[in-house]
Amino acid sequence: MVVTLPQMAVTLPRMRLATLPTPLVRAKGLESALSAGPIYLKRDDLTGFGIAGNKARALEFLIGEAVDQQADVLVAAGSPSSNFCAAAAMAARTAGLACDLLFSGPPPAAPSVNIELARACGALLYFDAAATREQLDDAVLDHAKRLQAQGRRPYAVPRGGATGVGAAGYACAAWELADQCAASGITPAVVVVATGSGGTQAGLVAGQVGFGLSWRVVGASVSRPPHNAAAQVVRVARDCADRLSLVPPTPADVEIRDCRGPGFGVASEQDRLSTRLTLHHEGLLLDDYYGAKAMSLLRSELADGCPTPVVFWHTGGFAAALSALTQGART
Ligand SMILES: Cc1ncc(COP(=O)(O)O)c(C=O)c1O
Repeated sequence: MVVTLPQMAVTLPRMRLATLPTPLVRAKGLESALSAGPIYLKRDDLTGFGIAGNKARALEFLIGEAVDQQADVLVAAGSPSSNFCAAAAMAARTAGLACDLLFSGPPPAAPSVNIELARACGALLYFDAAATREQLDDAVLDHAKRLQAQGRRPYAVPRGGATGVGAAGYACAAWELADQCAASGITPAVVVVATGSGGTQAGLVAGQVGFGLSWRVVGASVSRPPHNAAAQVVRVARDCADRLSLVPPTPADVEIRDCRGPGFGVASEQDRLSTRLTLHHEGLLLDDYYGAKAMSLLRSELADGCPTPVVFWHTGGFAAALSALTQGART
């Protein structure tokens, strides 16, 4: 049966960056390797703006608002491996904005693809801008205040672009998935996604609850303790719902599993197996920061008998995945 959903009206300012919809494909190779399924892949590694992956969707709304507010400089922050920082620098350039990026440590000893990409896009990089990663969001606000005092018009963004505005990209993505599923007669039971700053999951949850979609969204927390990640996802999802005039999600709508393993960007044995299985059976690259840990969660949910079909939301991470290969981190 083909069901057609009514059009979703989004009134927030938006600058188109991504090529949408991204493909939704069946993962038959993974299904036979795991003896489970149906498994579908939502290919947000293919959003088509640089190598931004999932971050292209958030940046459409963040840059949209920055332009709407007549900002002249985007201020953002992250770790030296940050996909968001590189994508933000590229998106800012595309919109004619300057970009200042703050990092908590010194310049990395080994070259980082994402940092060099940001630098090549003309971003100004500020290392040692905060003592810890957690203090970077305050440093962004302080930096923006200093720019304002100099007569600039900054648009400040917390790590990962995790705001209600940025999350709107993934509320729209929930709708996009619903549309694709309706057209193909698929009724997903569970959607698995990697969660770092929480903006991606927040948008997916805001969309799932707000549009009354029947699946559960389960987040693989890769860097924060789960209770911490859950509080952040609820806060951002509610802000997002408010901006889109949707029913607000509650804490009960936010499911997070602890997938940190040995640490942020450090793969466990299971994570390495997840990467190998996905590469060998689907020809897909996963990175150690996000994708591998989310795939490990998908495998363990399936092994525990979670309902199917499941959708694995591939969020990108090309730079880290390729760096790990060239540095011989993979066996
Ligand atoms: C490749 C990739 N996947 C997943 C995530 C997690 O998204 P979020 O920070 O919105 O939770 C990120 C964040 O940078 C990312 O770069």
